[in-house]
Amino acid sequence: MRTQRTQVAIVGAGPSGLLLGQLLHRAGVHTIILERQTGDYVLGRIRAGVLEQVSVDLLDEAGVGARMHKEGLVHCGFELMFEGRRQRVDLHGLTGGKTVMVYGQTELTRDLMEARAAAGLFTVYDAQDVRIYDFDTEKPRVCYRKDGVEHEIACDFIAGCDGFHGVCRSSVPRAAITEFEKVYPFGWLGLLSDTPPVCDELIYINSERGFALCSQRSRTRSRYYLQVPLTDRVEEWTDEAFWDELSRRLDDEGRDKLVTGRSLEKSIAPLRSFVIEPLRFGRMFLAGDAGHIVPPTGAKGLNLAATDVKYLSMAFVEYYVDKSQAGIDAYSARCLRRIWRAERFSWWFTALMHRFSEDGPIVGKFQAAELDYLMHSQAGLRSIAENYVGLPLDFGEHHERQRSAHPSEFCGHAGSVEGEHSRAAAAIAARFN
Ligand code: FAD
Ligand code: PHB
Repeated sequence: MRTQRTQVAIVGAGPSGLLLGQLLHRAGVHTIILERQTGDYVLGRIRAGVLEQVSVDLLDEAGVGARMHKEGLVHCGFELMFEGRRQRVDLHGLTGGKTVMVYGQTELTRDLMEARAAAGLFTVYDAQDVRIYDFDTEKPRVCYRKDGVEHEIACDFIAGCDGFHGVCRSSVPRAAITEFEKVYPFGWLGLLSDTPPVCDELIYINSERGFALCSQRSRTRSRYYLQVPLTDRVEEWTDEAFWDELSRRLDDEGRDKLVTGRSLEKSIAPLRSFVIEPLRFGRMFLAGDAGHIVPPTGAKGLNLAATDVKYLSMAFVEYYVDKSQAGIDAYSARCLRRIWRAERFSWWFTALMHRFSEDGPIVGKFQAAELDYLMHSQAGLRSIAENYVGLPLDFGEHHERQRSAHPSEFCGHAGSVEGEHSRAAAAIAARFN
């Protein structure tokens, strides 16, 4: 058995774990990251593509934004298509100048990996059988096996950044967790190809044949998605069948402009809304997909992971530099407030844009009527735009200040939601302290 010591042991080298490691490194906090896959495997997963301004700022703060600013595409709007017509949502105009950045999760992960390697920081790839212990004490431990040798890391804190199927959440006694989950009865079949995108901006399509999304990674690389039944298997979808189905869900202009080509990657992702409460268990904290999943329709998953990590890094820095527990105690409630807002938006947008097989044609008519209303209402458009570009990081605190400044406007609300979350989290976490 080999033993090591660190301040924060991070499980998972996806975007959450790597970004946390980088932010903590810049603040002088020592970390070790354990990842069960190889680096190449992590880079091979094709996932998110849209970053909110808050995430872009965070990557700048972490010192890894240079390539993103050079190669990423700033998008000022996107298009919504329903009943065969397209309408633009002017993100920039509706939000007072906010935009989103199209930059692939793969590239962002590569930038973070390179920054970590350049700083000489320690990441263990191919770490087998990772286990976490004693996070309900002052002396947590993480054990793993590498090349047949057992290792143990003694640490102050454990950050569970190990995604939906990770070991951290499943190491918590079930009775200490409240789980909220909705599984959708369809998946997204994604295809990546070196072909120019069909449109300069993203197109979200509600068609009679099901949802489709035209996204992109660069001016020469496209990413497309189709809503498919959960029973479909990716091997059954030839490239030709994919392009054919996408054309049918597009309008005439899209069909004319669509450039098809060989797929570089094809995969099916199930859709799920999932949150656990709380996100802290003694000295173990969950961040990113380990604690919550959103259906990808709202492009929120990676962005939520980034803000969890921002709050977590601030909490650790407060602990080490200011000798204060306040950030650690507030972590779960602060994150959950933002998470639930993004969960709500992603669920709503998913329901609005997809066809559910159990629904009759009347639901398609309801969706079209709602979209028609939203597209002709400044308030409706602004609500979509505000949620899509992402709510500001301090939204909760700002709202609280407003509430205490004008208590009469909120009469009937006894105490803050944040306070209720904190009390619930504290009660559950109490068994770990
Ligand atoms: P992950 O990326 O899952 O990383 C977790 C890491 O932990 C993995 O590398 C895993 O190998 C490792 N791990 C797991 N178990 C262990 C263990 N026992 N020991 C050690 N390591 C372990 N989000 C957006 O914001 N915008 C988008 O446009 C968007 N599009 C998406 C499209 C699709 C099709 C999908 C599937 C997702 C999309 N997302 C999007 C969501 C986004 O990809 C995720 O939210 C993001 O990957 C979360 O990062 P993470 O680091 O928390 O988790
Ligand atoms: C993507 O490009 O992968 C992408 C973009 C927007 C979404 C989901 C996925 O809403």
